[in-house]
Amino acid sequence: MLKEKTNIPNHIAIIMDGNGRWAKSRGLTRHQGHKEGKESAKEIVKTCAKLGVKNLTLFAFSTENWKRPKKEVDLLMDLLHNSLMSELKELKDNNIRLTTIGDISKIPFIVRTFLKKVCDDTKNNNLMTLTLALNYGSRDEIINSVKNIADKVKNNIISVEKIDESLINQHLYTRKLPDVDLMIRTSGEKRISNFLLWQSAYAELHFSEELWPDFKSEHLISAITDYQNRERRFGKTSEQLT
Ligand code: FPP
Repeated sequence: MLKEKTNIPNHIAIIMDGNGRWAKSRGLTRHQGHKEGKESAKEIVKTCAKLGVKNLTLFAFSTENWKRPKKEVDLLMDLLHNSLMSELKELKDNNIRLTTIGDISKIPFIVRTFLKKVCDDTKNNNLMTLTLALNYGSRDEIINSVKNIADKVKNNIISVEKIDESLINQHLYTRKLPDVDLMIRTSGEKRISNFLLWQSAYAELHFSEELWPDFKSEHLISAITDYQNRERRFGKTSEQLT
């Protein structure tokens, strides 16, 4: 149980790592690891919504994940498609809005079409925004943003003097999302791996030893409790905060 009910992170971002190792340690296929990982994702989404987290962003497929064997990529896309089909009703019933970040034009047509339908069908839900990062990479996102801004400067739509944090924010995939408060990575790895680099400038980082399929509500609660015990100074001194 979460002791402190206030000071819930407004935006949690999760790098769901360790499906492959979880499967290997049980003599299962990597795909079975991802399937079990999907069950963790489902539990964590529900728990976040229940705890009052307003934004949850899951790193489901990176720009680098295309380098995996084609069979694994295909099965991951199938899993995404099946999960969207089986969970649409659940998202609706629980008042959760689905959005995506990343270049989804590379996601297979049939999956992309259904993804758009789910985003559209849930766009007025307002309990929590669940964002799936798909074909997402932070550097890719920043490059796109710079290109778009440069284009606007070239065409005299904006002046160089207008370029500030807020303008850059408006050109990122995450333009409608707040900054990340808590970034969680599972499986004992201590890296950010090109995930929300700009948006996590002041995020608290929590590294869990659990492999993603083992990461359940109690581990999420530990991560939030850890977050609640941190002092977020945003560059100020402790004295200035009190
Ligand atoms: C990392 O584990 C996981 C992924 C690259 C895919 C994430 C997908 C899921 C959790 C399942 C589906 C989720 C949704 C939202 C449909 P890994 O394969 O890198 O594990 P390893 O490092 O142990 O090999």
